[in-house]
Amino acid sequence: MKIPLSRTSARLIHSLKGFVFDKANFQKMVDLRQKHELEDSMGFRGQWDSHRKFQIDFLRNNGLTPSSTFLELGCGPLTAGIPVMDYLEPNKYVGVDIRASVLNLAWREVGKAGLSSKNPRLICSSSFGSDILSRDHTFDIIYSFSVLYHLNDEVLDDFFSEVSRRLAAGGKCFANVNDHLESDKWLEFPFVKRGIETYRAAAAKHGLNTTKLGTIHSLGFGGPGTEKLNPLLIFSRRT
Ligand SMILES: C[S@@+](CC[C@H](N)C(=O)[O-])C[C@H]1O[C@@H](n2cnc3c(N)ncnc32)[C@H](O)[C@@H]1O
Repeated sequence: MKIPLSRTSARLIHSLKGFVFDKANFQKMVDLRQKHELEDSMGFRGQWDSHRKFQIDFLRNNGLTPSSTFLELGCGPLTAGIPVMDYLEPNKYVGVDIRASVLNLAWREVGKAGLSSKNPRLICSSSFGSDILSRDHTFDIIYSFSVLYHLNDEVLDDFFSEVSRRLAAGGKCFANVNDHLESDKWLEFPFVKRGIETYRAAAAKHGLNTTKLGTIHSLGFGGPGTEKLNPLLIFSRRT
């Protein structure tokens, strides 16, 4: 028979475990593990900080203001989402991802950053939120980083359909694409090489114009990976 520990012994054991945890600096290891978990769920191990810095700097240099309404499609673990919602007024950030597992990590990041009062909305959807958001909900900025090359042609068509109806008047959609690395796979998603003209034609079917801004490297991305050669595109509704 197991004899229950007295409260005092239980407290002593708990304190001892805490002492070992602090002395061995296990928190550092926990933090590193969590960072790797975030990086693996966004696809770029070791590049969390460079991806986050580029994305928030880019958005602030390209029209994001505190009052912008912002929709992130393929928000992942909120690499951009956390600094974006920190900058925005409350109720302006909506993130959509197809994976519940990554949104569970995302909610943890919201809590860690103390951003609950920004009332972010995170939506798990396989139709870019069309099943959840009201029909007339539009946004000043729609943003998809490292996402378009994970969509097959059919899903890309759904993406542009959704962007076209969700852009507010004068709104812009920013997205980077892969036009140089051969097609492959990433997790359960395809990894697709497509030229800019293919994107232009796919977007045009939904009344969207395409403008190439430059590679993310030329726009300030400081990371070492080959994704620095990804062109960044703007899609906007034809007037
Ligand atoms: C490479 S990660 C990038 C995540 C984030 N944008 C970032 O920069 O860290 C691609 C994300 O797109 C999401 N995704 C892929 N297909 C999607 C779809 N059809 N709808 C919504 N999200 C999708 C994945 O779950 C993943 O979180």
